[in-house]
Amino acid sequence: MAAGIDDIAIYIPRLYIDAADFAKARGLDPEKLQKGLGVSQMAIVDTNQDPACLAANACLQIMQKNKLSPEDIGRLYISTESSFDESKAMNSYVIGMLEQVYGQGAFEHCGGVETKFACVSGSYALYDNTNWIRAGEAEGKHALVVVSDIAKYDMGTSGEMTQGAGAVVMLLNDEPRLLAFDPKVTATSIKDEYDFYRPFGKETPIVHGQYSNLLYMIQVRKALEIYKKRALSSGLMKLEPGETILDHMDYLNMHLPYSNMGKKALAYLVRHEWRQLPRWKKIIQEIGMSEPVPKDPRGTIESVLGDEEFMAKDHEFTKLFTKTREYQELYEAKLASSLIASKMIGNLYTASLYLGFRSCLEFEYQKGVDLNGKRVGFGSYGSGSSAMVFSGLIQPQYEEIVKNMNLEAELAPRRKLTLQEYEILHENKLSPEEPMLHTKREFILVDVNTTTESRGERRYIFNE
Ligand code: CAA
Repeated sequence: MAAGIDDIAIYIPRLYIDAADFAKARGLDPEKLQKGLGVSQMAIVDTNQDPACLAANACLQIMQKNKLSPEDIGRLYISTESSFDESKAMNSYVIGMLEQVYGQGAFEHCGGVETKFACVSGSYALYDNTNWIRAGEAEGKHALVVVSDIAKYDMGTSGEMTQGAGAVVMLLNDEPRLLAFDPKVTATSIKDEYDFYRPFGKETPIVHGQYSNLLYMIQVRKALEIYKKRALSSGLMKLEPGETILDHMDYLNMHLPYSNMGKKALAYLVRHEWRQLPRWKKIIQEIGMSEPVPKDPRGTIESVLGDEEFMAKDHEFTKLFTKTREYQELYEAKLASSLIASKMIGNLYTASLYLGFRSCLEFEYQKGVDLNGKRVGFGSYGSGSSAMVFSGLIQPQYEEIVKNMNLEAELAPRRKLTLQEYEILHENKLSPEEPMLHTKREFILVDVNTTTESRGERRYIFNE
């Protein structure tokens, strides 16, 4: 049975900071953000927004657009790493908000949980709900999988350049108009790590930035190796001599904590794939230097990062590699379109891979590409750490959905914050009753209870 993504909707907060203003305030070269990281703007939540609001706003949008009633929905999953309760799942808040519009008890029949594994948990939720549909358990109902996050780092840290906020919701069913997932190929890797984590009670994560970059690439590569074996053994793909599995993917969507991380990760995967192939000899000739090897090739990530000579040479090699015609062609054809939205919005943690997918669809369609039957590969990564590689085929009815995508129009009503306003928001100096913007027809947070007996209870309204 086919199962996959029928439709996709996004909700992005209406406030943002500009990378150039941010760089100026922090004494950084704006080029580091714009060119080095690929960050132009970062979406910021208002005082009356939390990740549950973002999720509920995205859900309402997809339900209204598809004229769905709560009866049509069998499962509502939320994946987030911005959770604000250790026990009550974010789904329940979202259901509560949606029932303000659809009527109390309207979603009573529905099931679902909040899933957590840093940025990869949404991919697990998609996989589990796809299998719910494949198993015939859905009985004609749809699943909503929402990925919603606020990427917030301590002020003055290097992570602060890679913030953002937003939610993406995907409607799953057995007749998907957008993408049907390839069966029996989803691959995972997992390892106990401390590259990025957020201890109980702390609003912002503890991050080992360069370590997390390298770990991301290593883990995704491990998952790709497993994907490769599964794709070949299941008969989904057959490699001719000189081919790599990546030749059989028309698009590669990567987890995007910042847009250039997609470039970095793709270059890493492609290097490892192409190294075994006859084409590599020509590429090495074009680059004009041999591929560097660390002093201790079997060493730890720390030892590789600490090998300064290797790191410098490897950096130089990667830069030259990404300038080769072969890599440039692959980058432009398979990745570039997926990076556009990330540049304008920033990091969405769990949602960033799927914002990238949406961006890929919209901007490839705008180029005039016929997307029917194109295979999309996904490289998902969550710190802590786990990676997932999977794929799907774009479906014949995709145009019905993609022709109406217009990221610029969806972002248009947003307002640029001054750095002073941003810092006030960042330090949580204002209450939900003191928002920067007064939005209409959106769910907003109005109160977080502080009394002993009801501490943490949240109240939301639909702002008519
Ligand atoms: N002009 C142009 N480019 C410049 C520049 C300038 N003046 N100065 C620096 N650059 C380039 C650098 O060369 C580098 O590019 P390459 O990677 O291509 O070499 C890029 O800008 C970034 O520079 P640095 O690596 O020196 O940046 P940094 O160390 O200060 O910070 C970071 C980068 C580590 C990603 C930091 O922002 C961070 O810690 N972010 C949070 C963690 C994160 O996002 N990790 C990603 C993997 S983990 C994950 O994906 C999970 C998740 O969602 C968090």
